[in-house]
Amino acid sequence: MADAKSAIEYAHKNRERFIKELSEFVKIESISTDDEYKPQIQKAAEWAADHLRKLGIENVKLMPTAGHPVVYGDWLQLPGAPTVLIYGHYDVQPVDPIELWETAPFETTVKGDYIFGRGTSDMKGQVMATLNAIEAIMKTGDFPLNLKFMLEGEEEIGSLHMPDFLSKHGEMFKADFCLNPDAGAISADEPTITYGLRGLAYYEINIYGPKQDLHSGLFGGTVHNPAQVLTELLAGMHDANGTITLPGFYDSVRPVTDQEREASARLPTTPESYLEQTGVPALWGEKEYTPALRVGARPTLEVNGLLSGWTGPGSKTVLPAKAMAKVSCRLVPDQTSAEVHKQLLKYMEQNAPKTVAWEVKDLHQSPWAITDINTSGVRALASAMETVWGKPPLYRREGGSIGVVAMLQETCGVESGLVGCGLPDDNVHSPNERMHLPTWYKNVDAYIHFFFNMK
Ligand code: BES
Ligand code: MN
Repeated sequence: MADAKSAIEYAHKNRERFIKELSEFVKIESISTDDEYKPQIQKAAEWAADHLRKLGIENVKLMPTAGHPVVYGDWLQLPGAPTVLIYGHYDVQPVDPIELWETAPFETTVKGDYIFGRGTSDMKGQVMATLNAIEAIMKTGDFPLNLKFMLEGEEEIGSLHMPDFLSKHGEMFKADFCLNPDAGAISADEPTITYGLRGLAYYEINIYGPKQDLHSGLFGGTVHNPAQVLTELLAGMHDANGTITLPGFYDSVRPVTDQEREASARLPTTPESYLEQTGVPALWGEKEYTPALRVGARPTLEVNGLLSGWTGPGSKTVLPAKAMAKVSCRLVPDQTSAEVHKQLLKYMEQNAPKTVAWEVKDLHQSPWAITDINTSGVRALASAMETVWGKPPLYRREGGSIGVVAMLQETCGVESGLVGCGLPDDNVHSPNERMHLPTWYKNVDAYIHFFFNMK
């Protein structure tokens, strides 16, 4: 019979190889948003599938979707024992601005306690932590539970095809609990269970002016500049307090309860920690809420990108023909992306001037999720974390999104335990992404305890 002690010993002895394997996985440039990287996406899915096979996982296959494939696998040898679904994603975000990387993004570099590379933290490293824990148990005895795997290739683009995929194959992913290590922790010393994620609704706004770029001297003052129109529209989407002005935006936002305010105030996520992590001279946002609540429990509207006119070296006196912005909203209970889409269109109808044409493209959307923390799975995780860190985990709502969490609740009735070794200063989605190795190792140990606690 396997036990946690021998599995943990095995995991500790194999740390160097685990780092090598993570580096191989990171090397594959699986950027899901850019179609040029389709071959690498396929390669990463195959790499993950091969790795599952090496661990002894059965029925491993790449399941096609209308986009990138889902890697499936299972190990169902203990009828009657609980089944844990392991969730992960093998896709990553783009690397630009590439010039700000101090090391090559897809060649991992270990410096001190950190391993650098795109996907080390979000989330190839976090996927490998669960697989390393499973390997350690498999190689030192019999696995105490049944397992299923869902490794997705479109998480970073809003799990675009997951609703359709789950409506066809939902049955295959039924499980007693889903271990989802994509949510990270508050700090290396604070084991964390996340119970809330925000949703996301992502748009592209285009403003079309003259039929082509014009001489700004000959036409400036008589043709409305699309860059000016766009920036005025964007600026009008918040008031001076940072509150969003789309008509009806807060109608279905669930108010923050006093209990939640108190619980959140006890967390070590303070204004000071946000200042330190970001390097900004001062924080910003709705003054009625603490920074932790603004991130965890309040919706936002963010400009993710802007494009118009001349942005190359030197100058060009041009009146641009068009302007484009990428804009996304983080959503909280009980907002839906469909209602936010309507609110954005209404705002544009009410505020866009007659001097231009405009278009709003709906790029993708992910639902918010609140998970049940009173499940046996979350209890097994909490006690595993307490064993490893010597203190019980903190519970928080986090501002990021993981579309599949609500989809698994709705389609398969599966609750997720949201954990992970990612830390707030890992530079996820940014240059110089890194992962804290000591926290990675601790997570492997915690997952080993979790599997035994769950049995
Ligand atoms: N791992 C993150 C989400 C996350 C980060 C959850 C920290 C909790 C704590 C995930 O990979 C991610 O970045 N998701 C995207 C999803 C979006 C494109 C729909 C996000 O939140 O931007
Ligand atoms: Mn991410």
